[in-house]
Amino acid sequence: MTNVHNARMSLTIEVDRHHTLPIYLQICERFKAAIAAGHLKPGDRVPALRGLATQLNTARGTVEMAYDILVDEGYLQMRGAAGTFVSSSLPGSVTKGAPRRVRERAAPLRAVVVDNDAKPLRPGLPALDAFPRKVWARLVGHRARGVDIASLTYPDPAGFRPLRERISTYVGLSRGVECVPEQVFVTNGYRATLELILRSLSKPGDSAWFEEPGYLLARNFLIEAGLTLVPVPIDEEGLDTEQGELVDANAHFAFVTPSHQSPLGVTLSLARRMKLLEWADRAGSWIVEDDYDSEFRYAGRPLPALKSLDRDDRVIYCGTFSKVMFPGLRLSYLVAPERAIARFDQITRSMNAGPPHLLQAAVADFIAQGHFARHLKRMRALYAERRTLLADAIVKAFGERVSMELPAGGMHLVMRFTPTPNGPVDDLAVAARAREAGLAVIGLSAWYLGARTKRSLRGIVLGFANVADSAEATRLARMLRRAYDG
Ligand SMILES: Cc1ncc(COP(=O)(O)O)c(C=O)c1O
Repeated sequence: MTNVHNARMSLTIEVDRHHTLPIYLQICERFKAAIAAGHLKPGDRVPALRGLATQLNTARGTVEMAYDILVDEGYLQMRGAAGTFVSSSLPGSVTKGAPRRVRERAAPLRAVVVDNDAKPLRPGLPALDAFPRKVWARLVGHRARGVDIASLTYPDPAGFRPLRERISTYVGLSRGVECVPEQVFVTNGYRATLELILRSLSKPGDSAWFEEPGYLLARNFLIEAGLTLVPVPIDEEGLDTEQGELVDANAHFAFVTPSHQSPLGVTLSLARRMKLLEWADRAGSWIVEDDYDSEFRYAGRPLPALKSLDRDDRVIYCGTFSKVMFPGLRLSYLVAPERAIARFDQITRSMNAGPPHLLQAAVADFIAQGHFARHLKRMRALYAERRTLLADAIVKAFGERVSMELPAGGMHLVMRFTPTPNGPVDDLAVAARAREAGLAVIGLSAWYLGARTKRSLRGIVLGFANVADSAEATRLARMLRRAYDG
């Protein structure tokens, strides 16, 4: 570690020769950090090349490379013989205090931490150990090697045409969603889909039905985007449409997970589906169907998608490759109602949206060559097994303290805490302790938008797809039990 302190500008430059980051990049990082922290201010002179090189005991060329980058990026300005200075016109976002302000404004709506990494029991994560990585690497490599000039230009903002064709065939066959490729828009994950929907169809002041409890990440995104969410309770038939109509008959959207409610796992009954569609037609509202994990079904045949019953063209069907392939892809899609195709088209063009060509092409190949169908079939069998492993281990570790139904589909379990003589169990506290122990579980209360009421269920939502064997299931269930005991 070499350390240089420049008293006049209270600038500390440290470089670490054992770090994987090259020294010139470390120098860049240090300067940027010093500017962000206010130790270096616009107009300050920075050390001369030779001087800094000597102090850091490195070659002059190394410091020169760093300064060149900082100049190119606009952080520094070279003024000939006068020396090198911090740019006098740096935007507020890179100078003192800005990161703190941004963080303050973006304070979470409700303090829910959802890990992006693969900690045990993380809900929603597919079996990463079982993805055919070699096949995938081959397909991506093939596309990368065969790259031609045409594929270097801007991709179609609505999505790579062959992938749109594959998706339209797939949702037709597997989910009863009959559509043409022009209705399919490829996006960068479900929340990007939501953004496209809002930009295309929403206006300020719109309200929307949202499942209570419901998918917390979508909920937070929609609130941040300015929508007023109206919580509509979930019962054993799914979304209680009558309640929705009572509270807000004119909502502009209804966001629903009909196949496998997130998080409770119920399926929206046929009667409710019809009521929801009738309401949307009457009110001129849009139904956003999030069909995130319907491919995984372990008992009986899944009901076709709600979109398959959509005679009045009011349903926007949303799918994702996060569960059926892996979430690092950031690929998802929507099927637009026919009447809204032109609008979605216009907005995707104005955003110049659309994921990178290379990944879309590799996914189209993955589907076309049969790997997709094969993978799904294997995962259905594997998840059915892992689901039972974890459920058995939880029941063994908790006994009467929890009730749990084996979910008919999906990749997560919901364990519900039996109330104790002292009242309901504080599931958020249990989840927090479990998280401290390294598990990525989420308390069920966190999925409620409204205040916790007597009706709110208390429990834990946990993903089972990555539980490798019964020994691991037992170990994880015991960790959870310790978190429960406090
Ligand atoms: C209810 C629900 N919808 C959609 C998604 C998919 O999100 P994305 O496509 O951003 O990975 C998830 C992922 O966990 C989910 O749980």
